[in-house]
Amino acid sequence: MKKALICLLSMVFVLAMGSMVLAAVSGPCVNCHTMHNSQGGDPMMLGGVTGPLGALVRSSCLGCHTTTLSDPLATPSGGSGLYPFVKSTTAGFNDDNCLAGGFFPADDGTANQGKAHSLGSTAAPPGYNATPDWYTGDTNGLSCAGTNGCHGSQSVLDEMGAIKGGHHAPPTVYRILWAYNNGTVTGVAGIGATDYEKALIAGTSAPPGSYARSAATKARNIYKAGTTNDTVSRLCANCHGQFHSDVGSASPWHRHPTDVKLPNEWTVQLDTLETDVDAKYNPFGFDALVTTGKKYATCLSCHRAHGTANKDLLRFAYLTGDTGTAAIQSAGSGLHYGCLGCHNKQR
Ligand code: HEC
Ligand code: HEC
Ligand code: HEC
Ligand code: HEC
Ligand code: HEC
Repeated sequence: MKKALICLLSMVFVLAMGSMVLAAVSGPCVNCHTMHNSQGGDPMMLGGVTGPLGALVRSSCLGCHTTTLSDPLATPSGGSGLYPFVKSTTAGFNDDNCLAGGFFPADDGTANQGKAHSLGSTAAPPGYNATPDWYTGDTNGLSCAGTNGCHGSQSVLDEMGAIKGGHHAPPTVYRILWAYNNGTVTGVAGIGATDYEKALIAGTSAPPGSYARSAATKARNIYKAGTTNDTVSRLCANCHGQFHSDVGSASPWHRHPTDVKLPNEWTVQLDTLETDVDAKYNPFGFDALVTTGKKYATCLSCHRAHGTANKDLLRFAYLTGDTGTAAIQSAGSGLHYGCLGCHNKQR
C-alpha cells in the first residue's frame, strides 16, 4: 500500500517536472480563442484567416506562426510569451536568421519553388510508399498537421484536432510529431533547444576551409537516430518511405542512407567533438538522447523540415543555382561542413 502511494507520488512528481521543462502557451485565453467567432457581429479571426476553426482558435497554424517582422522568436503585438515563427511576410527569413525547422518563403512563387515544403501543394510526396495509403494532401493540399500533413496524428483530418493538447500540455514527443510505421504509432524522440536554435543559427557561419574546431557552445536540438521507430527520419518516411527503406544495407549504397552509423574509422566518428558548425550545417543523430555516443546520419543532417534558401530544403548550397551559403560543396574544396562535415576523405 505504502509502496503504491510512493509510486503514485513519484509519478505525479515526474508529470509535474515534465510540464516544467516542456514549453506550453501562456497568456489570456482571448489572445488565442474565440467562443463564437463573433464580437459585435464581427468575426474574431486574426491575420486574415477565415473561421471558425477547430479548438475555437483565432487563427490557423500559419496564421499564428507567421510574423510581419524579422525576429523568428518573439512576442507578437497583443500576444504573450514567445511565438516560434516559421514564416516572415516582409523581408522573409534566411539561412542565418530562422529557427531549426527552417522557414517557408515570404513569396512562394517561382523564385522559391522547391526550396520549401509547399503548403497547399497537391503533388505526391517523392518516394511515397506507405501501406495503407493514408495521405490525403494529394487531393486536399499539403498542410501543417493531420492527414494532410506532418504534425500530430495522421488519422485526424482537422489540424487542431490532430495536435490536440499539444500547446497546453505538451506531450513528451518531440515538437508534436509522431512516426507511423505500418500501423505502429511511435512518438518521435528528441530534445528541442528552448530557443529552437535561434542563437546557434544566427551566431555560426560556414567556415571557408579548414578551421580551428571547438566544442559546441550554443543550445542545439538532439535528434534521435538508429534502428528504433522513434527517429526523426522515420517521421520523414511517413511520406518519403522509399528514401528511408529502399537504400541498400551497406556500402555501396544505392540511395543515401539515414539511421546508419558513420563508419568507425571515419575521422568524424573518431572525433568526440561536436562543433556549432556541425550542429548548424550537418547535425548528427544519436541512438541515445546524448551527444556523446556514436554519430548517425539522419534526414535532418542535410535538410531542414520547413524550408531553406537552397533548393530541396538543403542546409547548404549544393545544387546549381544555390547561393544561400558560403560555397557549393565540391570535392577537394577543403570545406569542413555539410557533405564534407562527414565525408572527410573528400575534403
Ligand atoms: C497563445 C495561444 C493560446 C492561449 C493564450 C490559450 N490557448 Fe488554448 N489552445 C491554443 C491552441 C493553438 C490550441 C489548439 C491546438 C492544441 O490543442 O494544441 C488550443 C487548444 C485548447 C483546448 C483544446 C485542447 C485541450 O487541451 O483539450 C482547450 C480546452 C483550450 N485551448 C483552452 C484554453 C483556455 C481555457 C485558455 C485560457 C486559460 C487558453 N486555452 C489559452 C492556444 C492558446
Ligand atoms: C493561436 C495561436 C497558435 C495556433 C493557432 C497554433 N500555434 Fe503552435 N504555437 C503557438 C505558440 C504561442 C507556441 C509557443 C508555445 C511555447 O512553447 O511557449 C507554439 C508552439 C508550437 C510548436 C512547438 C512545440 C514545442 O515543442 O516547443 C509547434 C510544433 C507548433 N506550435 C505547431 C503548430 C501547428 C502544427 C499548428 C496548427 C495545427 C499550430 N501550432 C497552431 C501558437 C499557436
Ligand atoms: C505529410 C507528408 C510529408 C512528410 C511527413 C514529409 N514530407 Fe517532404 N514532401 C511532401 C510533399 C507532398 C512534397 C512535394 C510537394 C512540395 O514540394 O512540398 C514534399 C517534398 C519534399 C522535398 C522536395 C521539395 C521540393 O519542392 O522539391 C524535400 C527535400 C522533402 N520533402 C524533405 C522532407 C523531410 C526531410 C521530411 C522530414 C523532416 C519530410 N520531407 C517529411 C510531404 C511530406
Ligand atoms: C551526417 C553525416 C553525413 C553527411 C552530412 C553526408 N553524408 Fe554521405 N554518408 C554518410 C554515411 C554514414 C554514409 C554510409 C557510409 C558507409 O556505410 O560506408 C554515407 C554514404 C554516402 C555515399 C555512398 C558511399 C558508398 O560507399 O556507397 C555517398 C556518395 C555520399 N554519402 C555522398 C554524400 C553527399 C554528396 C553529401 C552532401 C549532400 C553527404 N554524403 C552528406 C554520412 C553523411
Ligand atoms: C546526405 C544528405 C542527404 C540526406 C541524409 C537526405 N537527403 Fe534528401 N536530398 C539531398 C539532396 C542533395 C537532394 C537533391 C536531389 C538529389 O541529389 O537526389 C535531396 C532531395 C530530396 C527530396 C526531393 C526529391 C525530388 O524528387 O525532388 C526529398 C523528398 C528528400 N530529399 C527527402 C529526404 C528524406 C525523407 C531523407 C531521409 C530519409 C533525406 N532526404 C535524407 C540530400 C540528402
